[in-house]
Amino acid sequence: MLSSILRLFPSLFLILITQTTAQPKFQYQFCRTDEGNYTANSTYKANLNTLLSNLTSNIEIDYGFYNSSHGQNSDKVYAVGLCRGDVKPDDCRSCLNDTIVLLPKVCPNQKEAIAGYDNCMLRYSNQSLYGILETRPSFLLGSGDNATDPDRFNQATRELLESLRSRAASGNSNLRKYAAGNATGPNFQTIFALVQCTPDLSEQECTDCLVRAFSDIKGSNILGERGGRIIKPSCNFRYENSRFYDPTIDTQPPPPPPSTNTTSKGGEVDQDLEIGSTESLQLDFGTISVATDNFSDSNKLGQGGFGAVYKGRLSNGQEIAVKRLSRESHQGDLEFKNEVLLLAKLQHRNLVRLLGFCLEGGEKLLIYEFMPKKSLEYLLFGIVPTYV
Ligand SMILES: *[C@@H]1O[C@H](CO)[C@@H](O)[C@H](O)[C@H]1NC(C)=O
Ligand SMILES: *[C@@H]1O[C@H](CO)[C@@H](O)[C@H](O)[C@H]1NC(C)=O
Ligand SMILES: *[C@@H]1O[C@H](CO)[C@@H](O)[C@H](O)[C@H]1NC(C)=O
Ligand SMILES: *[C@@H]1O[C@H](CO)[C@@H](O)[C@H](O)[C@H]1NC(C)=O
Ligand SMILES: *[C@@H]1O[C@H](CO)[C@@H](O)[C@H](O)[C@H]1NC(C)=O
Ligand SMILES: *[C@@H]1O[C@H](CO)[C@@H](O)[C@H](O)[C@H]1NC(C)=O
Ligand SMILES: *[C@@H]1O[C@H](CO)[C@@H](O)[C@H](O)[C@H]1NC(C)=O
Ligand SMILES: *[C@@H]1O[C@H](CO)[C@@H](O)[C@H](O)[C@H]1NC(C)=O
Ligand SMILES: *[C@@H]1O[C@H](CO)[C@@H](O)[C@H](O)[C@H]1NC(C)=O
Ligand SMILES: *[C@@H]1O[C@H](CO)[C@@H](O)[C@H](O)[C@H]1NC(C)=O
Repeated sequence: MLSSILRLFPSLFLILITQTTAQPKFQYQFCRTDEGNYTANSTYKANLNTLLSNLTSNIEIDYGFYNSSHGQNSDKVYAVGLCRGDVKPDDCRSCLNDTIVLLPKVCPNQKEAIAGYDNCMLRYSNQSLYGILETRPSFLLGSGDNATDPDRFNQATRELLESLRSRAASGNSNLRKYAAGNATGPNFQTIFALVQCTPDLSEQECTDCLVRAFSDIKGSNILGERGGRIIKPSCNFRYENSRFYDPTIDTQPPPPPPSTNTTSKGGEVDQDLEIGSTESLQLDFGTISVATDNFSDSNKLGQGGFGAVYKGRLSNGQEIAVKRLSRESHQGDLEFKNEVLLLAKLQHRNLVRLLGFCLEGGEKLLIYEFMPKKSLEYLLFGIVPTYV
């Protein structure tokens, strides 16, 4: 029945095929023609197929970065898949699944290619890609319409992107280098932006890549437009005047024990912060011990009269500073807890944020958000930081 219909209407065949296998068109794509081509039945092609069909098979990956290679010697193929930082794992895999089917079709015999959508990007090559900063090709996508008061709009956008850049580059984990946020532009327009690097880059490489990306926009025709994107293999950014990302994906360091239920008031001390009990702030000694490699000397940031401060990393990737009060400290447990409560109430934007404490077997620890330069003195001198 179907075959006779197809004989009568051969074009229907095409339609049927495209309906069942269609991937949306790429938003950007590039087939590199100067790095060699493969032939249809080559080993390279077979390796590429194996690699791609297996790329998203590790379903334990929930941070949106896939890295893999397959094959030997000159037929070895490398691939990297990156999802936007706010995209959920299933949507990420589904997006990459589309790129995996479509990219070898749009670049039918190029060894190296890159393409993507809003939510994800795929690259493959006969050269290693992991940990290598690559800024070309660079894709520029603009919204096509100018912002009102473009100069002030550009200024506000640039400031927003720069603040996001340092947040993304320093990343609070090695798994994701992503930051998103908003700012107010001229005429109370809200500007929304995100920046992202592949997480295999170092902080410096991520910064360098984004600096290059920002400079690509200068002198381009998307400067002054209401929305724009620069996409490079190793990093990208995007800004729009409507929200295009999921703000519930927290790009700030993950909050401390969740139940402190505070409402931020733009840098003021939270008057209404209620801490019913200290339990929510109490952390387990074992966790902190693991996070600081058992308080190893190499993690020691400094030593003050009260004890030492260590750098650490929680299993979720968050960096912390741990103040370990010396055992000789005569402060009683109750006094210590009261002090923690006081500190927790004094959360202020100029202070290092207290994430919690630990009180176990004579050990007294204060756990703070890690902030590279700014705040080490606070931690080293005095338990209650200088109140600014
Ligand atoms: C990639 O393929 C091109 C063309 O075949 C070749 O010149 C180049 O050396 C290959 N690169 C690697 C790392 O094998
Ligand atoms: C690869 O193929 C493209 C056409 O598909 C051709 O333009 C290009 O010159 C080829 N590159 C090499 C290195 O042979
Ligand atoms: C593909 O392989 C067959 C033999 O398996 C060979 O005859 C043919 O030439 C090859 N085609 C190409 C394009 O290499
Ligand atoms: C496919 O991926 C799985 C999980 O990532 C891995 O264990 C397996 O070796 C891969 N298979 C091939 C053929 O690469
Ligand atoms: C990424 O892939 C490269 C090449 O296969 C490998 O050397 C590296 O260990 C991988 N890294 C991760 C984090 O999987
Ligand atoms: C992606 O493709 C793999 C392999 O074909 C499949 O197992 C998986 O279910 C797909 N994932 C999604 C979210 O479509
Ligand atoms: C945007 O502004 C530029 C100059 O600032 C102008 O050349 C261009 O025509 C404007 N585009 C639109 C769509 O108004
Ligand atoms: C802008 O970002 C802040 C957090 O920095 C958020 O509270 C606010 O809701 C955002 N504004 C909009 C319009 O999404
Ligand atoms: C936080 O406080 C609000 C209002 O005080 C309340 O509705 C909400 O349930 C609280 N959330 C948690 C997680 O305790
Ligand atoms: C951590 O250090 C203590 C002594 O400071 C030692 O007894 C313990 O075995 C160490 N644990 C690990 C996992 O190294």
